Amino acid sequence: MSKILFVCLGNICRSPLAEGIARARLKPERYPGIELDSAGTAGYHIGEPPDARAIAVARRHGIDISGLRGRQVAADDFDRFELILAADRSTLDILRRRQPGAAADPQLLLEWCGIGAGLDVPDPYYGDDAGFDTVFELLDRAVAGLGQRLASLP
Ligand code: 4NP
Repeated sequence: MSKILFVCLGNICRSPLAEGIARARLKPERYPGIELDSAGTAGYHIGEPPDARAIAVARRHGIDISGLRGRQVAADDFDRFELILAADRSTLDILRRRQPGAAADPQLLLEWCGIGAGLDVPDPYYGDDAGFDTVFELLDRAVAGLGQRLASLP
């Protein structure tokens, strides 16, 4: 299981942060064949870079996400990716309704990564900078859990 898609609503805050952290921490030398991407369920920010506050919090942790661009989840994502991780339950509901019978059954990110059952990554978009720090810390722990789980798979 090495093709992983992170999904949130806008693809400018949570999922590009998750992608950037995962790119920085889950290197192909340790995770052969790993492919990482992110997308949004909504099309509001197609082609845009991540939110400036997301770029800034990543940069404070030594990670550059400024080159990522927003895109919307596409039908073929459900065939291209083996693991689709939704930032919150609302995103998960939308994904599950969109892909009847597809190969990859979307999962709740914080749950799959061992942080906690039923937990959402809070949407920081309408909040302040502190919300982005909280989201970064949460996603950093989640990516560590993701790495452990991937390493333990047969
Ligand atoms: P994200 O945050 O889903 O973490 O990228 C949001 C970004 C944009 C909007 C909502 C949430 N928006 O309403 O434009």
